[in-house]
Amino acid sequence: MSTVYLNGEFIPKEEAKISVDDRGFLFSDGVYEVTSFYEGVPFYMDRHLARLRRGLSWLRIDYDVDQIPEMHRRLLELNEVEKADTSIVYLQITRGVAPRSHPFPKDPVPPTVYAFAKVWQRPSQEEWERGFAAVTVPDRRWSRVDVKTIALLPNVLAYQAAVDAGAADAIQVRNGIALEGAHNNFFGVFDGTVVTHPVTNVILPGITRSVVLELARKNGIPVEERPILVEELPHAEELFFTGTTNEVHPTVKVDGRPVGDGKVGPVTRALAAAFAKEVRRLKEAGAAHV
Ligand SMILES: Cc1ncc(COP(=O)(O)O)c(C=O)c1O
Repeated sequence: MSTVYLNGEFIPKEEAKISVDDRGFLFSDGVYEVTSFYEGVPFYMDRHLARLRRGLSWLRIDYDVDQIPEMHRRLLELNEVEKADTSIVYLQITRGVAPRSHPFPKDPVPPTVYAFAKVWQRPSQEEWERGFAAVTVPDRRWSRVDVKTIALLPNVLAYQAAVDAGAADAIQVRNGIALEGAHNNFFGVFDGTVVTHPVTNVILPGITRSVVLELARKNGIPVEERPILVEELPHAEELFFTGTTNEVHPTVKVDGRPVGDGKVGPVTRALAAAFAKEVRRLKEAGAAHV
């Protein structure tokens, strides 16, 4: 039985009701965040809150994010997942409930705030070692994908195209540039340098992406933030994705062709190890505060 958060209350999921006039339902008028927890310790919550604050401010939705850490902590506890190895809290904030009309409601309405907690599973070590396949798909999204809105239809279709092709991930391509995945950021290794698209309006600024770039720099791995052309993909030594429930996720095949020698490469391995070490460090630091 799961307990969810809805507009200030922690209630059984079955009792959670949202109006058909909710602007999230009618217009996808809202934003979301997904924050991971390792044994209940949040992973860079401050960065998730900062990204959410930016999104809310761009949408002009008035909501104080300062209450979120405590709400997330309680949700994990109420669902008895605060000790789980890996869990997430999904949080969605919409503009609220008002009769359907495109402009914002004239009289402000409270935003609808919904959140749930759940455990997520890493792939097994064997699956990770084998690596994953990806397919390239056209990027059909709008021009502000840096804002984490709930309007995810193009991402849904991209991900489904990957599933239909028997692959794990989609690489979204626009103007010949391999931008990012359907729900994760995309990296290549060229001449030993880790390359990923810079943070602009055409990718989501992933929290995992930012941490992995920092870890690469700290570990002396050269990094370059520049667009990756689709025509470069056959020459990549390694490819991988990053994301909240992906961590460092190796790609060994793109559109049926092997990446490099078709095996998970040394840079991906080094970054995955650095990421695991960072998670251990956070857990130890988190536990020290209990
Ligand atoms: C399109 C897209 N890119 C990248 C990411 C990765 O972001 P994060 O590392 O913050 O999970 C996500 C996560 O949902 C996403 O939807």
